[in-house]
Amino acid sequence: MILLMMSNSLFYVPVWLGQVFTMFESLKLSDLPERQCAVLRRPSGTRPVLRVIEEDGKRAVIKDFSENGFIYRNTAGRFLVWREKKAYEKLKGIKGVPVFYRSIKGIAVIMEEIEGKSIKALHRTTGIPESFYSDLNDLLKIIHAAGIAHCDLKRAPNIIVGNDGKPYLVDWSASIFKSEFRPFPLSLIFKRFVRDDMNAIIKLKLKYSPETVSREEKDAYTDRGFLERIIRLIRDNARKLLKKIV
Ligand SMILES: Nc1ncnc2c1ncn2[C@@H]1O[C@H](COP(=O)(O)OP(=O)(O)O)[C@@H](O)[C@H]1O
Ligand SMILES: [Mg+2]
Repeated sequence: MILLMMSNSLFYVPVWLGQVFTMFESLKLSDLPERQCAVLRRPSGTRPVLRVIEEDGKRAVIKDFSENGFIYRNTAGRFLVWREKKAYEKLKGIKGVPVFYRSIKGIAVIMEEIEGKSIKALHRTTGIPESFYSDLNDLLKIIHAAGIAHCDLKRAPNIIVGNDGKPYLVDWSASIFKSEFRPFPLSLIFKRFVRDDMNAIIKLKLKYSPETVSREEKDAYTDRGFLERIIRLIRDNARKLLKKIV
């Protein structure tokens, strides 16, 4: 019996792994427009097109810079794809982060589609349960322990409420890695952004469940340092600046 179970698991595990590693393997950039089954968002000057594609019953989201202008695609586009890919590789296996399938030619990333709704929609329908905030808190602890800060969670659309009611985080292109910010005083920057990620939960609570926000949380949220404000200012204006240049 045990031998049978072992032979079964030995058989099934490689088949399952094989499926994960070969998903969407043959897709080419030129195939995308005709293979897509939906467009989540059309491209704009600095925003990639977001397509949904289906293969063997599995749906994936493709963030694709191939329709952006030549200069933007080959500078910022490649950089953002490289960062996002690197983050997904480090986050592999964490529930609450989409499975990353692959990148295409350095200008598109393919990841699992998370079926669910926005936080706004959850608020409108059933309201946001306290458990959602604590699940988000637990998820962020795991991500930070893996040495990654998301850095863009104050934009609520980057948090998806999955059909299981749990939080899922997308849009990792602005994330930073502890390994790159190890020596002091750089380590302070990483810590700041970890705190900033956690503050995103307070921001959500202030908006949707203000009665649950404690005095300490309010203080932690308003006490944002000079360094954080500067970095945020640079980051938020970089896109506008690039748009003017490119
Ligand atoms: N893997 C995914 N599954 C489901 N929806 C997604 C996924 N990735 C992105 N989205 C949706 O598309 C939106 C834009 O994607 P995002 O990666 O945040 O791009 P941008 O950098 O332009 O903000 C997200 O806010 C989310 O609603
Ligand atoms: Mg986003």
